[in-house]
Amino acid sequence: MALGVVRALGMMGVPVVVFYYDDHSMAQVSKYVKDSVKIPHPEQAERRCIEMLIRHSEKFGEGILFPVSDEAVAAVSRNKRLLEPFYTVACPEWEITRRFLDKRNTYVLAKQHAIPAPRTFFPCSEQDLTRFIGGIEFPYLVKPCQSHLFHQRFGKKMFPVATPQQMLEAYRLARSSGLEVMLQEYIPGDDTQVVNYNAYAWEGRSLVEFTAAHVRNAPPFFGSPRVAVSRDIPEVLKPGRNILKALGFYGYACTEFKKDCRDGIFKLMEVNGRHNLSTLLAVRCGINFPWLHYRHLMHGELPEAAAFEKEIYWIDLVRDVGYSLRYLATEKYSPTQYLRPYAKPHVFAILDRGDFRPFIRRISALVRKISQSLRPGREKQRNREPQITLGK
Ligand SMILES: Nc1ncnc2c1ncn2[C@@H]1O[C@H](COP(=O)(O)OP(=O)(O)O)[C@@H](O)[C@H]1O
Ligand SMILES: [Mg+2]
Repeated sequence: MALGVVRALGMMGVPVVVFYYDDHSMAQVSKYVKDSVKIPHPEQAERRCIEMLIRHSEKFGEGILFPVSDEAVAAVSRNKRLLEPFYTVACPEWEITRRFLDKRNTYVLAKQHAIPAPRTFFPCSEQDLTRFIGGIEFPYLVKPCQSHLFHQRFGKKMFPVATPQQMLEAYRLARSSGLEVMLQEYIPGDDTQVVNYNAYAWEGRSLVEFTAAHVRNAPPFFGSPRVAVSRDIPEVLKPGRNILKALGFYGYACTEFKKDCRDGIFKLMEVNGRHNLSTLLAVRCGINFPWLHYRHLMHGELPEAAAFEKEIYWIDLVRDVGYSLRYLATEKYSPTQYLRPYAKPHVFAILDRGDFRPFIRRISALVRKISQSLRPGREKQRNREPQITLGK
């Protein structure tokens, strides 16, 4: 996510400094980066992280601070008042951020504002869960309230469950790790039914909008996009605007919906109140969200709606090749489907001949990950988690 923002700003001549907390991240090696600083983890060592950001503000001058991961958004937003004397902070205050980082709040707001969303239940105990199981049809999802914490713990986004027993096991597993979860109806359909509503919002209005459809996700059904395509999706404009307004959100957000084939309605998945993975897709199509965000907050230029190019593909090459091979037998795409994004106009997430180092870094991270996954003991851990496969 940071790499997209770095390139989007760097190509407009903005000098960029990257504060990173993960040695394997890629943004700091981009050619657009003037300097980079390793900081403590934003949530695991929040106070030290914020202190370090403040300490470095003097060295780099008063810049705009973009938090671009969920944990960075959480920490920066919680400490916005402390940071504001030193930076222009490009995220809302905690009162608003907590409404989208904790999906419970998002779904409650969606319900209050009649924004279509999957049926969702928030169990307080096992008894609660058992009572709820009586009235539902499987499959269901045991889904985290705070996605990034769950992902840090389990390396996946959620547990799909097909039976009451699996649901109970998944619930226990998450709770034993201290994580809060909800039970959510599974909206049937493949990855192409998932879409992004990207918008820059200000004072209750979405000023600039961009929509895209997922083409395939990593992993399929429950992942983030590995290929997406810019497309007009007029049906999500209204619910997209409404949920941002209901959240009181301002700034940039990527809101996801999935089309429910049973009633044809797009149901709310989540709001990512930060620049997202496919930032460079909108840039390639003519809307540079980080740049307009920058110009607005730094120079007071209110962004204006703009048209965007359609049918441009965004490809996360490494994940697309990796997941396509891994799920070759189950995804069942035709060779044409696999190759179309590469044959049509496209932009890569990381690979860029003019800025090659992030891609090298990505490949070395991949090699390390593969060698780690081959270590004994990994498989046992996976097998304790509920596993089901959902068809198209
Ligand atoms: N209720 C649901 N029904 C069907 N698919 C879902 C549902 N919730 C999530 N997904 C799938 O999982 C992906 C990740 O879920 P999401 O809520 O966006 O979590 P995260 O915050 O981890 O990105 C979505 O993009 C979508 O493809
Ligand atoms: Mg998501």
